Amino acid sequence: MATTSVTPAQHAGAFLQGPKKLLIDGEWVDAASGRTFETVDPGTGEVLATVAEGDAEDIDRAVKAARRAFEDGPWSRISPSERGRIVHRIGDLIAEHAEELAELETLDNGKPKAVALGADVALAADLFWYMAGWATKLKGGTITPSVPYLPGDSEFHAYTLREPLGVVGQVIPWNFPLLMAAWKLGPALATGNTVVLKPAEQTPLSALRLGELMLEAGVPAGVVNVVPGYGETAGARLAEHPDVDKIAFTGSTEVGKIIARAATGNLKRVTLELGGKSPNIVFDDADVDAAIAGAAQGIFFNQGEVCSAGSRLYVQESQFDRVVEGISSAAQSIKVGHGMEADTDMGPLVSQEQFDRVTHFLRLGAEEGAQHVTGGQAIDRPGYFVQPTVITGADAQHAIVREEVFGPVIAAMPFSDVDDLARQANDSHYGLAAGIWTRDISKAHRLAKRIKAGTVHINTYHVFGAELPFGGYKQSGWGREMGEEVLSNYLETKSVIVGL
Ligand code: NAI
Ligand code: MG
Repeated sequence: MATTSVTPAQHAGAFLQGPKKLLIDGEWVDAASGRTFETVDPGTGEVLATVAEGDAEDIDRAVKAARRAFEDGPWSRISPSERGRIVHRIGDLIAEHAEELAELETLDNGKPKAVALGADVALAADLFWYMAGWATKLKGGTITPSVPYLPGDSEFHAYTLREPLGVVGQVIPWNFPLLMAAWKLGPALATGNTVVLKPAEQTPLSALRLGELMLEAGVPAGVVNVVPGYGETAGARLAEHPDVDKIAFTGSTEVGKIIARAATGNLKRVTLELGGKSPNIVFDDADVDAAIAGAAQGIFFNQGEVCSAGSRLYVQESQFDRVVEGISSAAQSIKVGHGMEADTDMGPLVSQEQFDRVTHFLRLGAEEGAQHVTGGQAIDRPGYFVQPTVITGADAQHAIVREEVFGPVIAAMPFSDVDDLARQANDSHYGLAAGIWTRDISKAHRLAKRIKAGTVHINTYHVFGAELPFGGYKQSGWGREMGEEVLSNYLETKSVIVGL
């Protein structure tokens, strides 16, 4: 298939020249081992750039730098106002370099450039702007303790301080590389922590460019260190490191459990944003056309590589055929192509590994007796392309309904009444998100309460904002990203008591 209509990278070209290094203590350095790895354009399968491969030794160097910057460096003395202004400037620089960052994201991850620009880059800038405001609004309280075992005339003045944790390790995935870096770095910096960030090995480029922009924004040396490398080496060292105070992770539930175990050595704080198998629910009293469009966007956005993708579609019986037909025709009209082609709606999957995983689930679904109403196949062209797929005839026993596929694959299932539906919707070890489509507002709000998930959409899907807490019930994770709520993941509370 022709790749001639691919628009060349006009803005990202300069950054792609030459090998990329690690950011440690404000300097761009080679890996201690001297090793490098290659990152690939998933739309062609061709090498995009060579990147220094950080491992345990580099993580150790980065943690040392972050510790020094936290304890002795300017970051420990900076005023909240100045800290906030630096975080705000990071947002400004992301916005100024939006085209370049979007191209890096598209080339490294595969997603359409319009998605990278409109979602990833725009949300990343906004996250920093939002978090910047919190730097000056962190506060404790004053408290009057009653101490029953002391004489009645004892008087105290007590107050709480909210203090940064220290050195934070952050391990992020490849599906929204820049945005996941922003979700992690924004709150960590606004609250005064220092960071060692390990981007995913599939998509290190935008985090490295962000590293340059952070230095330009005035982030002092050592405050943010960016160390690309593999999970089993660099990531694992960060999770177990005895001098790291907290680890924040986004990725698979499987690795989330490994990280939680590794963190027990020094009982570092742990937050996990993990997988999902989110139900999208269409009642027969819904605006069915809007529900169809929302269900299609809920699964096909970003190639389905979204932790909160609405991958289980429950439709009330009387509308089942109509909705399946609608979402199938939406799937067929999706233009799949290289992310740099202007008319591309959906790009390739991120890697050969992810392609193998998704095509494995498609074969397994068919073997287990499910039907591919549309799609179901890989696309025969260079790169890692699969067809948008709609499946029927599967149920809660099937792997395709239970497991996170992380691709453009939706399983549609009919339901009869609300109780039956609520049981099915909650029949998952995940609990990240859900969607409800109905015109009955009481039904919608009552069901929103019953669903065990961190985000419930009503008559919409995939709405993210820096102000909105995001995270999972059950095995979808620990803690929340974004909103005011994320701040507590990066702060300790200290009680100070004065005898008067
Ligand atoms: P993964 O969980 O292995 O990778 C995510 C991050 O964790 C990467 O930075 C990786 O280098 C790191 N990592 C891997 N092993 C590690 C270890 N032992 N210690 C510390 N860090 C480690 O995810 P992967 O293999 O890329 O994708 C597999 C599946 O995971 C996907 O098909 C999808 O189902 C799920 N996933 C979910 C994501 C989400 O946003 N919740 C994001 C990425 C993947
Ligand atoms: Mg993995």
